[in-house]
Amino acid sequence: MKMKSLESTAVRPANWPRMRAFLATWYTVAKRDLPWRRTNDPYAITVSELMLQQTQVVTVIPYYERWLKTFPTWSALAKAPEEKVIKAWEGLGYYRRARNLQALAKAVMESGGTLPQNEEGLRALPGIGPYTAAAVGSIAFGLPLAVLDGNVMRVLTRLLALSDDISRPQTREKLQGFATAFLDEGNASTHNQAVMELGATICLPRKPMCLICPLKDDCLGRDHAEDFPVKTRVETVRREETVAILRKEEKIYCEQVEPGKPWHGLWRFPDFDPVRMEKGEPLAQLKYGITKYSVTMQAIAARWKSGTSASGCYLTQKEMQALAFAAPHRKLILKIPSRHPERSEGSA
Ligand code: ADE
Repeated sequence: MKMKSLESTAVRPANWPRMRAFLATWYTVAKRDLPWRRTNDPYAITVSELMLQQTQVVTVIPYYERWLKTFPTWSALAKAPEEKVIKAWEGLGYYRRARNLQALAKAVMESGGTLPQNEEGLRALPGIGPYTAAAVGSIAFGLPLAVLDGNVMRVLTRLLALSDDISRPQTREKLQGFATAFLDEGNASTHNQAVMELGATICLPRKPMCLICPLKDDCLGRDHAEDFPVKTRVETVRREETVAILRKEEKIYCEQVEPGKPWHGLWRFPDFDPVRMEKGEPLAQLKYGITKYSVTMQAIAARWKSGTSASGCYLTQKEMQALAFAAPHRKLILKIPSRHPERSEGSA
């Protein structure tokens, strides 16, 4: 959807052509040399865009490079065992993205082996929402689609000094309209990447570097950039969790998370269950954040009560290395003492 009128904005449309030009020139000179910027391969670009959603560039780089060695094509990814796909994503979080990427690879292989080069075709594929369609469509195929992610929202709300709450869907629609109106249609790949790059390197959430910004002369939020974007804060909720470390000689009892639960498909230690387990001493503690929760996780030694059965399995350190663990549980492996004085425990 293209905004017909931008009268309501003080950044006058008349300025937009020069803003586009300044932005593109700045990007050409200042862009970071990132591995996905050295390829035209739509598959590699799609991998990068899915990884970059909710994850920072520095974290993504090694994952991206390893991923392309392990699964170099749509076909390789489509054929890979799901366990291997999840293991390659281990540590990036939001594992649904990995499953979506494989579902996408299967759909691509079922329809000729290449991505469609139009918006409708892209949007019809599994796992491709408006952001991915715009990013892949513009970067891989030059389609005139404007991306809107967190960085772009920050840049636009500052340029326009727009105080609407970005957690509201109406504001996102409005911003998508602005992004589309601002888009350099004939140069969509550079333009989209330039706005995202500006958000990632200059128009930072805190202490933005307005003095060296290519758009400073046209930015309405320039003198109070940190007031934007306006977003209703989600209160964090504290939560305590206790996980059980049940040992059998060198091995520790682990479970694979069932479908429908957070961390589905990943491995973890079980929650301590007082009905089935006896409590031992505390072994380690760590904190992690997930969605709105700030979790304190306590690991305790435990034993099965007699007659208990369990569906998980006992794993050695080496076996744990080979499997994909939920991030806090992976960290726990390093924190718990390697050998418990008591040996074989309980019946399960
Ligand atoms: N964030 C997500 N995709 C990006 C890209 N292609 N360039 C810069 N930042 C990004």
